[in-house]
Amino acid sequence: MHTVHVLNGPNLNLLGSREPATYGTVTLADIEARLQARCDGLGLKLVFRQSNHEGELVTWVQEAGRASEPVILNAGAYTHTSIALHDAIRGAAAHVIEVHLSNVHAREDFRHQSMISAVAAGVILGFGALSYDLALDALITQSKSKS
Ligand code: DQA
Repeated sequence: MHTVHVLNGPNLNLLGSREPATYGTVTLADIEARLQARCDGLGLKLVFRQSNHEGELVTWVQEAGRASEPVILNAGAYTHTSIALHDAIRGAAAHVIEVHLSNVHAREDFRHQSMISAVAAGVILGFGALSYDLALDALITQSKSKS
């Protein structure tokens, strides 16, 4: 593994000020900085992106899948609605770890369904910003066990 993609969906640009009781006060830039520091230490390239547009996320998932590079994906609300993201992961055979800051199963019913989980390698949720670190840990451990 040489490159890791971290793709963030709608409204995650608002982290820090958005519903702090649910998402905490960590910003997306804080999450990026921490992962960047970890990736630098490991000699990994980090591609960290956020978009409020479903199609842009679809394109990025396809790119990562085509390059056989793993993805940590927090699709935000598109998690619960996006057949297009489901199809992109499946169609591009992307290796995706689905992450969420919040425990979506402890929230509204409409958050209990994920279009991503069935095509993800695994799901990590409910640990706040730590969910991203745990996903990176999983990718690193998986890639070591493959080599
Ligand atoms: C989220 C959970 C989603 O239900 C929500 O729409 C988000 C953030 C999370 O990280 O907890 O935007 O993906």
